[in-house]
Amino acid sequence: MSLFARLANPWIALQRPYQPGRPIEEVARELGLGDVAGIVKLASNENSLGPSPKAQEAMRHAIPQMHLYPDGGSFYLRQAIAKKHGISDDMVMLGCGCNEHAVLLAHAFMGPGDELVASERSFVVYKLVSSLYRCKTVEVPMKGMTHDLEAMRKAIAPQTKLVVVGNPNNPTGTMVGQADVDRFVEQVPANVVTVFDDAYMELLDPKDQVDTVKHVKAAKKPVVVLRTFSKAYGLAGLRVGYALAQPDAIDLLNKVRQPFNVNAMAQAAAVAALDDDAHLEATRQMLRAGRRQLMDGMRKLGLEPVESVTNFILVPFQKAAGLTAALTKRKVIIRPMAGFGLPEHVRVSVGTAKENAQFLNALSEALIELQ
Ligand SMILES: Cc1ncc(COP(=O)(O)O)c(C=O)c1O
Repeated sequence: MSLFARLANPWIALQRPYQPGRPIEEVARELGLGDVAGIVKLASNENSLGPSPKAQEAMRHAIPQMHLYPDGGSFYLRQAIAKKHGISDDMVMLGCGCNEHAVLLAHAFMGPGDELVASERSFVVYKLVSSLYRCKTVEVPMKGMTHDLEAMRKAIAPQTKLVVVGNPNNPTGTMVGQADVDRFVEQVPANVVTVFDDAYMELLDPKDQVDTVKHVKAAKKPVVVLRTFSKAYGLAGLRVGYALAQPDAIDLLNKVRQPFNVNAMAQAAAVAALDDDAHLEATRQMLRAGRRQLMDGMRKLGLEPVESVTNFILVPFQKAAGLTAALTKRKVIIRPMAGFGLPEHVRVSVGTAKENAQFLNALSEALIELQ
């Protein structure tokens, strides 16, 4: 054990860091390529259409002001988000991606010995954050690949502080519907904070989206909704997400955040992106076509991918690490799921038609190599 590891808080020294999707620059270096051209990254559920043109214009416009600290209260962005959801701006809090909100929620509500309830196959950050605060994560078995909300509710114990429902769920790509969500909110005890992680919600057609914000508005139970600009809005590189909750919860979260947690470029771009319906609709269209292309293509190759409602697909595959490596060699980056507790699965993000085709070509070669 290193000197610093001996000096550190033991639960921090034991913490396993989050393993993100590999950056294309890193893969280019590994493959000995001079640049990233031709490498396709389908590993982190980003938006292959890129940032909205309106956001790009807003960023160009913001450049001359970058010597100034950002507005620590993100006034204009909070106003725009509040208007979009029909709530007051004291019910909105911005963060450095909604990953930051996961940390802030644990910081505000959890302490040693407390419990966080989540599904066994859900976003790994919930568990990492919970252990950071010396809490236990109760991982509830799913019904197949979908949350079992009834079982999650039953897993709530006196020491439970947070219950987190990622919907649609990463990495399974499935979702629970409005009636189940409504019943869940009704039944979770009022001394537990229910967090709906809606990171992928805007990628769905509006008619298919689940309204979790109505539970924030109703204020009958302590509900927090998380949203992000990283997925539907194509701004993952800027790191901006938001929490919606009653003003007293937002006050608490504001106490534990850094004063300038959302940079000025991100604020400007996010305001503009919210106003770019055409880009959002083009994104949904790309995903509808892309999911079909990938599902059909993978099934033709003998795989059994999990039907997804969102911008990634979970694929059972025994030699997941070997498949990931064989694809990387062919300039396609996907995500092995060992870090999510699914060592015999990979996850592929839905890209443009061209990117999906490059993935399917590389996949057919890789499967032959692995035979
Ligand atoms: C379910 C889920 N929640 C939250 C996040 C984090 O998003 P952000 O980029 O806003 O931190 C992700 C990112 O992949 C995710 O999959």
